[in-house]
Amino acid sequence: MAEPTKKGLEGIVVAESKTSLVNGQDGKLVYQGYSIETLAENALFEEVAFLLWEGRLPNKAELENLRAAIATEAALPAEMLAQLKSYPKNADPMAMLRTAVSALAMYDADSEDQSVEANRRKAIRLTGQITTICAAWDRIRKGHEPLAPRKDLNLAQNFVYMLTGHEGKEPDATAVEAINVYLVLLAEHGMNASTFASRVTVATGSDMHSGVVSGIGTLKGPSHGGANAEAMHMFLEIGEPENVAEWFRKNIKEGDRRIMGIGHRIYKALDPRAAILEDKAKALAESSGNSKWFQIAKQLADTARADAYFIERKLYPNVDYYSAIVLYTIDLDVDMFTPLFAMARVVGWTAHIIEQFANNRLIRPDLNYVGPMGLPWVPVDQR
Ligand SMILES: CC(C)(COP(=O)(O)OP(=O)(O)OC[C@H]1O[C@@H](n2cnc3c(N)ncnc32)[C@H](O)[C@@H]1OP(=O)(O)O)[C@@H](O)C(=O)NCCC(=O)NCCS
Repeated sequence: MAEPTKKGLEGIVVAESKTSLVNGQDGKLVYQGYSIETLAENALFEEVAFLLWEGRLPNKAELENLRAAIATEAALPAEMLAQLKSYPKNADPMAMLRTAVSALAMYDADSEDQSVEANRRKAIRLTGQITTICAAWDRIRKGHEPLAPRKDLNLAQNFVYMLTGHEGKEPDATAVEAINVYLVLLAEHGMNASTFASRVTVATGSDMHSGVVSGIGTLKGPSHGGANAEAMHMFLEIGEPENVAEWFRKNIKEGDRRIMGIGHRIYKALDPRAAILEDKAKALAESSGNSKWFQIAKQLADTARADAYFIERKLYPNVDYYSAIVLYTIDLDVDMFTPLFAMARVVGWTAHIIEQFANNRLIRPDLNYVGPMGLPWVPVDQR
């Protein structure tokens, strides 16, 4: 007797994990015992990386060691930089990142070593290198030379420096603070689709780079990490706050579009990361002197939240909704939003990969066959 099909694996528990708790009913998120609100308020991204990889917060010396290790390992092999320069300048940045991370495995001496020590080294290296690749790519495609990461900076500072800096120019403090909070909020999120893909990949005994490449490919889709860029395209299409009501009526009520950045498989209450990012987006919009995009986002969210369709289905803004406004306000190109998500989530993917290896079993679900049976073979010239 066949088991009922669980489309989209909804409600299926596939692992035990100490990384994070996502409580969708109450809108709570916890990394290794710490609430996301506490971490967003206090933590450096490197502290969260240590927490997720080691299961506890670092002391001062451990934090400094990890910061320095990530900054040092962030330097790319010369062959990688040459490759980046050879990619088509109009390539989708997520396609670029997926290809570049796959190529990095071939320059990594630890690539095929699956020991715990090697996997920790690779987690640190990939976290640094992905940041450098993202910043280098944005410069290369705009015709500028990439900048090497600085060993004295933390990851958020290094990203802003490599993206916009030059010698003698310190990274902008407002952008650094926004990027750090964004990275902390996006670092980890239970058994999301890209983390699941990473775990499935390494559960076959494959390597960490392959797991991260699977994660990047999965994150790229608009139902997952691609939603932040899609949300911004939607706000740009709306254009002005006074267009929100008409846009909602035409596209959502009378059309069949979805509001990007709204809805979630697990959260049936407000995503706690969206609440934090809404505040950040508002503060950034006010301090930048341009509140238009925040106003559009806020009005659209309020319109949806007052609508019976959204109320009945418990559809609230998710992390990608207001993060689009935060990233746009600090002048990041829209197609770099999802690579930035990958810059954060690589920490979660690698934490899960390490956890999967520690207690591995092949992940191999089943399906219900609904095709025909017993067909007679017809030779090709008689079909
Ligand atoms: C995230 C998402 C893929 C979750 O999907 P899911 O759990 O499979 O939920 P479903 O697609 O089955 O949606 C459930 C219902 O809500 C509706 N719905 C879900 N998200 C919606 C949205 N953003 N706008 C309008 N309606 C939406 C669906 O049409 C469906 O309605 P129905 O029951 O009448 O068919 C979905 O909410 C979505 O597409 N959101 C927009 C993309 C996005 O922001 N993704 C980032 C997630 S962090």
